[in-house]
Amino acid sequence: MCGIFGIVAKEGNIAQKLLIIARRLQYRGYDSLGLATYLNGKIDLRKDMGTVESVVESLKLDKMKGNIGIGQLRWSTFGRPSTLNAQPHFDCDKDMVGAHNGNIVSFYQSKENLEKYGHTIISQNDGEICVHAVEEHYDTEKDMVKGIIGGIKEMEGSFAFVCFHKDTPEKIYAVKMGSSLVVGIGEDEHYVASDLPSILPLTNKYVPLNDGEIIELTADSYRIFSAKDGKEIVREPRVTDLSAEDAVKGEYDYFLTKEIHEQVEATEQLAFGLESDILDDLVDKLAEAEMAFLVGCGSSLNACNVGSYYLNNLAGVMSIPVIGGRFFEEFKNYKPSKNTVILCVSQSGETKDIINTINFAKPEGYHILGMINVPGSTVERMSEAYAYIGAGIERSVPATKTYTNQVVLFLILAARIGYKKGIISDKEFVSLKEEIHNLPKLVEKTIKDCNQKAKQLAMELSEIDAMSLLGYGVTHGVALEGALKIREINYISAEAMYSSEFKHGPLSIVEDGYPVIYVVAPKDKYYVTSHLSEVECRDGRPIVIGEHIKGLDKHVKPGDYFEIPKSSQLISPILAVIPLQLLALYMSIERGIDPDYPRNLSKTLTVD
Ligand code: F6R
Repeated sequence: MCGIFGIVAKEGNIAQKLLIIARRLQYRGYDSLGLATYLNGKIDLRKDMGTVESVVESLKLDKMKGNIGIGQLRWSTFGRPSTLNAQPHFDCDKDMVGAHNGNIVSFYQSKENLEKYGHTIISQNDGEICVHAVEEHYDTEKDMVKGIIGGIKEMEGSFAFVCFHKDTPEKIYAVKMGSSLVVGIGEDEHYVASDLPSILPLTNKYVPLNDGEIIELTADSYRIFSAKDGKEIVREPRVTDLSAEDAVKGEYDYFLTKEIHEQVEATEQLAFGLESDILDDLVDKLAEAEMAFLVGCGSSLNACNVGSYYLNNLAGVMSIPVIGGRFFEEFKNYKPSKNTVILCVSQSGETKDIINTINFAKPEGYHILGMINVPGSTVERMSEAYAYIGAGIERSVPATKTYTNQVVLFLILAARIGYKKGIISDKEFVSLKEEIHNLPKLVEKTIKDCNQKAKQLAMELSEIDAMSLLGYGVTHGVALEGALKIREINYISAEAMYSSEFKHGPLSIVEDGYPVIYVVAPKDKYYVTSHLSEVECRDGRPIVIGEHIKGLDKHVKPGDYFEIPKSSQLISPILAVIPLQLLALYMSIERGIDPDYPRNLSKTLTVD
């Protein structure tokens, strides 16, 4: 998804710093890059399609001069990738330059209106609409905040926009209207960017922004204004303990490999919080809930799938996982009772489908809770109570450690709620606590035990174009997650379902050697043996992921049993996703695909 950024500094050239931010926004997915800086009455705008490094080299972006500048990484939605459609864009007089992130859904209507007012729009990109809309109002108001307030009324959509004008060469402006945006505070300079991790090498002091806010930055001040009426808003800065180091590959070839290994540390971080009062609010709110909708997208939705098993079985909280984009359509005529909660699960905390759910549900009386990874995110600020999953920065597009920590946090919450309600005895709670504290060691062992086997299987499966993954009970979400990982970085069909469903149609795909992966929790041997035999007897290739279950191993070839360390029904699904992550990674490398940047995808999806 596009990323926007800007810097205003007291002195010196900021091009190198703009490029630091650009490089760190790459993980969001992009096809073009542009920068615009200001020096001695002139705006220097350079932009093109290509990777950051290729555009830096061809346009000498690192040599650009000026102590004020903005930039954009573009992920195409309106207008195909091209130099013209790359951002930033000039206004008609070339005295203002701006770039946006998100979508202007009124593109055609707004363009027609602006052209009627006399503007010349030269690209097919909606970012250019933002620039002309602000220009239209600035030219009469001669005030950038008023220009932006007027400009955003010309457009419908969900976006963030950054710009500067020759008339105010010591200031940059930005507005947040549905897409993420954060202000960073440095020494004698200020930053604005689409996310906090991108500015961490420059500062750990930041100011989160809400939708409907405009910011004005100079080298030594930041001011926030309401985009409704222009009134000034006072907000103190915060300090984050997220580290810039989290976001470099280090000894690994890919962020994905690194992040799979970081699951040891990430789960350890979370296990510490097991008894912490940080979770009290969320535990209390969920414990009181008559019903909890667990809303997420992609991997976060898969975590909700496992999480609902934990909450239903351990905590006595009736829980239903719901697709983020579906909530409104499904429940628009449902009147929530006083204690119906929505737990929004989103690592970025910015996913548009989730924000749409909150915008619909809050006024209806739902209690909004959040499970997030990025501090200061929109979901955090819209939630009554929230908890961080503490996974650290995740750069690779495929979610790994954030998914795992979401699941672990679900287990911790369910255990605490179950104990609080008396559903879990003292003894059971103590034993669960021990298991959670022991989890990081098991995660480490699982990676070690399964790594080589995953490489081997990836080689064997390097030619396939379809496979199935099946889970039962608590492992259904794990199978879904494994299939998502395999699909998104291998561009093949990997379908996951509840294992009892396979015989109701999909079984017809099975022929000689067709791979079907079964994710098995220790207590589910009875049903899984039956489901697995359906494939075995049709000459398919059943592959098992789970701890050693006596008898089940007889149904698969020796190399096709991924044995994970012995644990329990509740812990084993957390471990079982690891061999699937490794398999997806190695299959992707076998196919010559960069697993960190799968085509067409983006890390933070701020569009409908
Ligand atoms: C898949 C993946 C995506 C995200 C989804 C939700 O590997 O990363 O499916 O899980 O886009 O993102 P968040 O959790 O940021 O709401």
